Amino acid sequence: MKYPWSSITGSVAHSRGFAILLVLWLSCCTFTSTEAYDAVDPSGNITIKWDVISWTPDGYVAVVTIYNFQQYRRIQAPGWTLGWVWAKKEVIWSMMGSQTTEQGDCSKYKGNVPHCCKKDPTVVDLLPGTPYNQQIANCCKGGILNSWGRDPAAAVSSFQVSVGAAGNTNKTLKLPRNFTLKAPGPGYTCGPAKIVRPTKFSTSDKRRTTQALMTWNVTCTYS
Ligand SMILES: *[C@@H]1O[C@H](CO)[C@@H](O)[C@H](O)[C@H]1NC(C)=O
Ligand SMILES: *[C@@H]1O[C@H](CO)[C@@H](O)[C@H](O)[C@H]1NC(C)=O
Ligand SMILES: *[C@@H]1O[C@H](CO)[C@@H](O)[C@H](O)[C@H]1NC(C)=O
Ligand SMILES: *[C@@H]1O[C@H](CO)[C@@H](O)[C@H](O)[C@H]1NC(C)=O
Repeated sequence: MKYPWSSITGSVAHSRGFAILLVLWLSCCTFTSTEAYDAVDPSGNITIKWDVISWTPDGYVAVVTIYNFQQYRRIQAPGWTLGWVWAKKEVIWSMMGSQTTEQGDCSKYKGNVPHCCKKDPTVVDLLPGTPYNQQIANCCKGGILNSWGRDPAAAVSSFQVSVGAAGNTNKTLKLPRNFTLKAPGPGYTCGPAKIVRPTKFSTSDKRRTTQALMTWNVTCTYS
């Protein structure tokens, strides 16, 4: 196949670029026709998994991963917005790969000021091109997620949150409540957080497996 401008530039890279654009365009424009096929995706859901990866003197650090398990429905720009309500007086000391939209009232903290003191934080993804020192794996996609049926690798979004004024054992930690997941369109209804078997992570060479200290899942369905 020869494109009009590949002869102008004579560049293989350009025609490869064009092929990628073509694929993107095809996936974009076949989407509208399949979006309505909900009946074939009855168990479609978005699962939000929290893995506690370390305890801290006043709380914990968790990696939060959003999996779009829906076959066809993607999350389009401007992307997902995740909210919850803390069970106690927890604060967010810091985040990697995402941020809260508001800091809230942190006036009782002196010196180190938390990233967010709101009882009901609202979290959004960072944009592509975020400095590397603020990224974690699978972050920073501007909240855009493909669907599991189309591209599992692009259907996952992660961020890391460091929680303070929180329980720091698996007996004292109180799960966040009232999860909300918003996306362009009607949005999603989320169930309660449920403690599940801790996630096992294997190193890339598969020679060592580590596991989360505590894991909980939240399932959200389109509504
Ligand atoms: C969510 O979707 C995944 C993948 O289809 C499925 O394995 C899981 O059971 C679903 N979860 C719920 C609670 O329906
Ligand atoms: C908490 O941790 C202990 C030991 O580390 C374990 O036996 C127990 O099952 C854990 N409980 C929960 C709710 O994860
Ligand atoms: C959280 O949800 C419960 C019902 O599930 C409701 O009674 C409560 O008012 C909600 N709390 C907040 C702060 O939204
Ligand atoms: C929790 O979510 C993860 C990621 O989607 C999944 O692998 C795991 O099976 C879920 N656990 C339960 C009990 O649903």
